[in-house]
Amino acid sequence: MSISIGIHDLSFATGEFVLAHTALAAHNGTDIGKYHVGIGQESMSVPAADEDIVTLGAAAAAPVIARHGASRIRTVIFATESSIDQAKAAGVYVHSLLGLPSAVRVVELKQACYGATAALQFAVGLVRRDPAQQVLVIASDVSKYELDSPGEATQGAAAVAMLVGVDPALVRIEDPSGVFTADVMDFWRPNYRDEALVDGQESVNAYLQAVEGTWKDYSEQGGRSLDEFAAFCYHQPFTKMAYKAHRHLLNTCGHDTDQDRVARDLGLTTAYNRVIGNSYTASVYLGLAALLDQADDLGGRPVAFLSYGSGSVAEFFAGTVAAGYRDHLRTKEHRAAIERRTPVDYAGYRALHEQRLPTDGSDHATPAQSTGPYRLAGISGHKRIYETR
Ligand code: CAA
Repeated sequence: MSISIGIHDLSFATGEFVLAHTALAAHNGTDIGKYHVGIGQESMSVPAADEDIVTLGAAAAAPVIARHGASRIRTVIFATESSIDQAKAAGVYVHSLLGLPSAVRVVELKQACYGATAALQFAVGLVRRDPAQQVLVIASDVSKYELDSPGEATQGAAAVAMLVGVDPALVRIEDPSGVFTADVMDFWRPNYRDEALVDGQESVNAYLQAVEGTWKDYSEQGGRSLDEFAAFCYHQPFTKMAYKAHRHLLNTCGHDTDQDRVARDLGLTTAYNRVIGNSYTASVYLGLAALLDQADDLGGRPVAFLSYGSGSVAEFFAGTVAAGYRDHLRTKEHRAAIERRTPVDYAGYRALHEQRLPTDGSDHATPAQSTGPYRLAGISGHKRIYETR
């Protein structure tokens, strides 16, 4: 009999500030319907000057360590596409901030928004090799596009931490997976840029092509039929994209795409992404968090995941929700992470967007703006300095 491996715990953190799309619309003269309905976004998290992928990742993971301890964790996989260093894994800073044991391997993974799914699948493989071990997967990203560009409305920031092990309390990850890779330039960020470059329409088309490709492979590998799934968690660069993707999948499979069915299949997965914005690698797992935190009992039911990373790599896979999972959720803490954000006006957001750390090795202290458990205190001699509150 095969062992059951999957997500044993899940916790997320997001930025200190929040910009309402009404403020962005007032600045650029866009009809708010385009944001609220057309792309399906209400607001986006904006990190403080002393927050980054490390502080967000550590804040997401700390409650997981507090609940389960670290004695079984031998691997930390940090997935991000907004990396802060070309050599050192951001997870090493998190390892230090969380006081994890030295007998742990830490590595960073990148493939745009798909990275966390690769991390999850690799974690399942490691646990299968040694079921006594657990893997801490952290997906952490700050999504940043150029000011006054079409992508600006689809920014955001968040981190999700997942503890992967045997007999998971939340979701058992199933075989098979459907995988898909295509060399496309829909979204990318050269090493010398802070902001991503994107071909908006091409990116939407590439995502839809990947939905088709992963589903074809998933079916050929002997996966479940579409009607078996209780819900579908999509990567959500903006929540409307999940609707476009699901309609495309239903069409591909010759199913009706009536509004009720689409809303039933994914409506609950968009609640957090709609107010947090794009969190790249974390986004599909924020969708899972929103689903588990809001659904009536899903125990024993299969849920589908579609993870898409521009460039592009995608994966369609299934997970079965564990019986009794509701006793292990962090619904209250998740809502608090969203509600604790301080609203920022357009000028405040723009100033945060424009701030940069020095690149000449000089000393720089970041303003103390954040109120989370960890902060980036500054940079000195090209080294980032973190603090615990
Ligand atoms: N009321 C209601 N709806 C309105 C409206 C109004 N007043 N005005 C416009 N709309 C609708 C449009 O009809 C359109 O709907 P459809 O997509 O259903 O046709 C929608 O609002 C968006 O309008 P536009 O296409 O004109 O918007 P845009 O040109 O400003 O670009 C975007 C939208 C391409 C998503 C842009 O925000 C962007 O480039 N974002 C970043 C890239 C991205 O997120 N791509 C997604 C796939 S790639 C991926 O998933 C990886 C990743 O994370 C980046």
